[in-house]
Formats: sequence, structure tokens, C-alpha cells
Amino acid sequence: MTTKKIKVHKLEGCIEISGDKSISHRALILGAISIGKTEIINLLESEDIFSTIDVLRSLGIKIKKLKNRWEVIGNGTGGFIEPKKILDCGNSGTTARLMLGAIASNPISCTIVGDKSLSKRSMSRVTNYLEKMGADVKLTKKDYLPLLISGNNNLLPMKHVMEKASAQVKSAIILAGLNIKGVTRIVEDKLTRDHTERLLNYLKVNFTLRKLPNGGREIKLQGPYEIKSKRIVVAGDPSSSAFFIVGALIVPSSEVTIKNVSLNPSRIAFIDVLKKMGGKIKIKKIGERCGEQIGNITAKYSKLRGIKINSFMAPLLIDEYPILSIAASQANGKTVMKGLGELRHKESDRIKSIVYNLKKLNFAVRLKGDDIQIVGKKINIRSKNTIKTFGDHRIAMSFLILSILYDKKIKIDNEKCISISYPKFKDHLNYLINKS
Ligand code: S3P
Repeated sequence: MTTKKIKVHKLEGCIEISGDKSISHRALILGAISIGKTEIINLLESEDIFSTIDVLRSLGIKIKKLKNRWEVIGNGTGGFIEPKKILDCGNSGTTARLMLGAIASNPISCTIVGDKSLSKRSMSRVTNYLEKMGADVKLTKKDYLPLLISGNNNLLPMKHVMEKASAQVKSAIILAGLNIKGVTRIVEDKLTRDHTERLLNYLKVNFTLRKLPNGGREIKLQGPYEIKSKRIVVAGDPSSSAFFIVGALIVPSSEVTIKNVSLNPSRIAFIDVLKKMGGKIKIKKIGERCGEQIGNITAKYSKLRGIKINSFMAPLLIDEYPILSIAASQANGKTVMKGLGELRHKESDRIKSIVYNLKKLNFAVRLKGDDIQIVGKKINIRSKNTIKTFGDHRIAMSFLILSILYDKKIKIDNEKCISISYPKFKDHLNYLINKS
């Protein structure tokens, strides 16, 4: 039998990636608790960010969009007013968790809800700390949304040792600590993304960061703070750039450049991993944006090889495992990604979403506890296959990148979810494909 040869379109050209999602949430929230007007340039305009905007507006913060920027009129720390309606965080874990911290030190009560996926994600990982400080929280089934939080402006200054390596939990405690009288300390054993600390530095908030002998860090805040607003320019999102970087590495003859990407070390570990796999990637540093180094990243088609990714890397690769799995599926040999337990608590159970879909396409994937093993192979897809995204934006985008290699043979059940983090993804993808 002769099989029809699939035409593969290479990825070629240069794009400016959208604003970073984590920094965008923080720019809005820190703007809301600053005094004065914060102008935000390059804010990501995606569903998750609109959830944060809606929640802040319900708490009395004026936010508007002007031609090329957003404007937030801050009410100062402790300046939220009790909302008249339920606060809906949609699909956004970062909105729910960071806002819990920001709300806790205000004398107001709020009901917080989220969509089906967010209602399955743990909130006690944040509220346990807030309750110890003195906030009153009622959770559904002791862990989930909907929840009712009653904050107060007399929370206790305390030392918190992070049980999980989570930037969201750490940031929630920092946001509460900004309005607590006295010293709040946070000890983390593993480095997690540090955008909150970088933005606070940029806003001239006086706090200390101490490296610990075990490689961890201690953050010490002396509240309450009065933060003076400053213009914030949001650096490009490294996690969004990862889709096109991997696309260029796996699609023959490709070469793409992604401009103005944050080179924050807590975000670009995936580049080291891809380089170890043999990926031809070059980074050109071009400057700084509000405490974040930025640069242009160029990636070229490469012959990838499988590698072992240790579990201590997990907090620094947390959003990139879906697209790294796609890279692994095209690599020569076995890739083992270890210690992925936290992936079960994302927008979908990402261990399940990755393994289910790669297996469905006939890739050699094995799940051993919380470790995923993928042996790369060039598979032939003869009939149409539909990827089940489980409503997860990163699963949708990862498999759309893989689908470039298989023309129209791989379909995605729900592309709409991409607008959660990267509404311009399809436009950027089509631009890079159409150039060739
Ligand atoms: C984020 C932290 C990470 C990440 C999420 C965004 C943040 O979550 O997965 O997409 O903005 O702080 P964890 O804190 O749960 O690791």
C-alpha cells in the first residue's frame, strides 16, 4: 500500500510574544493596592487576566483600557471595599489564589467562585496560611471553591514555611503581608517563580531576600507598606514562547525568533532542557523591563535526543511539561520526566491529559507513579484523530504544535480554551506558517 506523503509547513519568521500572564496578574493587583495611577503597557489580554480585572473592579478598583495601555487607580494597601457581588475567578488559579492573599488583610467578606475546573483545584493550600494569620475562611469540602473569606486588618505577622513549592501560594502570603503590621517571613526550600518579588523591588518596596544554606530563600517583609504607583511594562511570556520554540525544533527547516521574552531564570529552565536535548536555541539579551531581563530567542530545527529531567526541576518547568512532552515525542530515545505530581492540580490533570493523548496517537508513553516516560518515534497517522484537551489551554496549544507535523490528521476538540492564556496563538502560528 502506498501512503500519501504529508506536506509539512515549516515555521519561519519573527513574532513579538504577548505579555506574560503571571506578571500581568501581579501588575494589576499591585497597581490596585498602590497609591495613585498605574499605567500598564503590554498587559496580556486573555480570559485569565480579565478574571483578575473583574474581581478587582468588584472590590472598588477603577481599571480602564486606553489606546495602548491599561490604567489602574489604586486604593492603597487595605483599600478594597466589600463587593456587592460574588467574585468569579473563571478558570484562573492565579486570580483565585493571589486575590485570596490580597483580600485577607482587608476587613471585608467575599464569596469566591470559579468554573468547573477551578472548583476542583485546592484552595486550602493558600487559605491554611491565611487562617493561621487570622482570616476566617469557609471552603467547600474543606478545600475548594465556592468559598467565603472574611478578612481583617489585624492579621498576625508570622513566619511561614512553604509546604509546597508554589509561586501562587508564596505570592498570596506576600500580598497579605504587605498590609500586616510587623514582620512576615516566608521560607521556601525550592526556588519558585519570583515575579512578585521583582515587581515589589521595582516599586521600591523595602523587603529582604536571604539565600539559605539549603538553596532555599527567606523573604522578610515589614508591613504595612504604602506603595507609590509606577508605570509597569510587562515582559513577554516565556511559557507562551515555548510553543513556537518547540515548534521550530521539531518541524524540519524551521527557524523562528520570539522577541521581548522575559528571561527570568525561574521561567526559562525549559530552554536549558531543550538545549540538553540537542535543541539549537540562541538567546540575545536586549534589556530590562521592570526588574525582568528580556531578550530575543531564536530556535532552529534540530535533531533532538531523549534525556532525564529530575524532579527538583519541576517547579521551574511546571507550565512547560505539556510542550516538553511534544518535544520528547519527536526525540531520539527515551525522555523521563520525574516528579510531576503537581501537574495533577493544574487546569486539567496534566499527567492524564499528556499520557492519554500521546497514547491515543500511538506514541510510546509510560506512566510510573508521577514520572512520565516517552520514547520518541516517527509515527504515521493514517486516520483523523481528535485530541481531548480537557478544557486545558496548554494541552490544546501543545498538540496544535504537534499537529503541524501531521497536516490535518490531528484535530483539537476545543480550541476556544486557548484564549485563557494566549488569544493570539492561532494568529501567530498562522503567521509563522504562512511565511513559508
Ligand atoms: C503561577 C504559578 C504556577 C503556574 C501558574 C502561574 C503564578 O503555579 O503553574 O500557571 O503566576 O504564580 P503554582 O504556584 O501552583 O506552581
